[in-house]
Formats: sequence, structure tokens, C-alpha cells
Amino acid sequence: MARKPMMAGNWKMNNTISEAVVLTQEISNHFEKDWGDSVDVVVCPPFVDLKPAKTVIDFDKMPIAVASQNVYFELKGAFTGETSVAMIREIGCAGSIVGHSERREYFGETNEDVNKKVKALVAADLYAIVCVGESLAVRESGEMIDFVCAQVRAAFAGVSVEDATTCVVAYEPIWAIGTGRTATPEQAEEVCAAIRATLAEMYGEEAAEAMRVLYGGSMNPGNVEALLAMPNIDGGLIGGAALKAASFIQLVEACL
Ligand code: G3P
Repeated sequence: MARKPMMAGNWKMNNTISEAVVLTQEISNHFEKDWGDSVDVVVCPPFVDLKPAKTVIDFDKMPIAVASQNVYFELKGAFTGETSVAMIREIGCAGSIVGHSERREYFGETNEDVNKKVKALVAADLYAIVCVGESLAVRESGEMIDFVCAQVRAAFAGVSVEDATTCVVAYEPIWAIGTGRTATPEQAEEVCAAIRATLAEMYGEEAAEAMRVLYGGSMNPGNVEALLAMPNIDGGLIGGAALKAASFIQLVEACL
């Protein structure tokens, strides 16, 4: 099945509002309107930048979606510092990254938290970009497939097939994030194929074939072609290479 690729830029905590607006405008300078027919492009600025970046993006001219890097699963209430699904929806977000390894590591985000966030997002007709991935220790133990597929099952527990197929899974081996040590296409494909097989067990072959599985972890213009050539890799979730318009555009062009 031909799946429409997705290239998403996770800007992490790297842009002030003015920097986010400049980066978005630099991307728009290179962006060709018809690219939107061939690839879904998403930018994921920090919370404070979401609305300013969205304002700069004229979707008719530059079909780029905006998504948050995180969201809380409660609808509203005494949750200091958190941001709700309703809040990101109100400013025009299409969805949110959930379960990024940095949130799991630094902020104690659990599989259960990820599942609650997926449910809160799909209940609001937004999508989740669900991050899964193993540590170097798990990779070296050879247990990465069991580990990652357990994360997938936990993230989508109790989520309907209709809702799950609106979501995206991003395989981000922790040992490849920000390290320049990209997984080989074969390593990435092995896990992405196992992710798709797990989705098929949960939702059936047709739904699993329709869902996009991205790779993240030092994807860049030098390795994107080889990674996208793999049958079960449908795009990228990009960190460092998304912080420069030129390199991010090269990654988008690789999807055309
Ligand atoms: O969420 C994407 C990010 O974790 C990948 O980072 O810098 O290795 O592309 P990077």
C-alpha cells in the first residue's frame, strides 16, 4: 500500500518566539505549494511558539501542520504547568507528539501516561505521534523488538481502530537521538516492520498497512534516502536537522 509520507520537525526546547517565526518563514520561502499533495509536513515548536508559528503559516500557500511536543491527558483543572488538548486544538494544532524518550527519561512519562494522552487526543479529533524506542542497553541485549512492540501495545490499549489509524508511530532508538549515530536502514526497518506487525495484531492488516511509521534519530539529508527506501519507513521525526530550514526542506524533498 502506498502511504503518504510524513516529515515532522520536533524543535524541542530550541526556539524563542522570534526564532520560531523566522524558522517558519525560512521554511515557507523554500516550500512549494503542491508538495502538500505528496507529503504531510508538520512542525512541532515549543508551546509558546505554536500560535506565532501557526500565524505565519498560510495553510493554503504552505500546507504545513503544527503540532505540540506534548500534551496533558486531563481535560482541565489544577495541573500546574500543563497544557490541555483543548488548548492546543484552539490554536490550530493538528495533534501532538506523545511519549518522546526525553519525556519518558526526564519527566517520568510512563506507557500508561502515553495511552491516556493518545485517548485524550483522538477524543478531540487530533492525532498522536506516538514515540517508541529502546535504549542502547536494550539494543545490545537484542531485546529491542519485544521492548518497542510492548510500548506500541501499551500506547494503543483501548483505542479503536478508527482512532488508531489517525495516529502515527515514530520509532526513535534512544541511542540514535542527537548522537549522529543513525540506525542503519536495516536496523530501522526491522523494528518498523515489527511495529507494523504489532499494529496488525491489534487492528488487522488493512489498518496496519494504512498507518504511518516514522523513523527518528539523527535522520539527515545524507541518510534520508536510504531510510525512506525501506518498505516500512514512512517518513521522519526530525530533531537537529529540522532546526535549519535548508536541511528540513531537503528532508521534505526526499519524500516527493
Ligand atoms: O523527536 C525527534 C528527535 O528525537 C530526533 O532528534 O536530533 O536525532 O534528529 P535528532
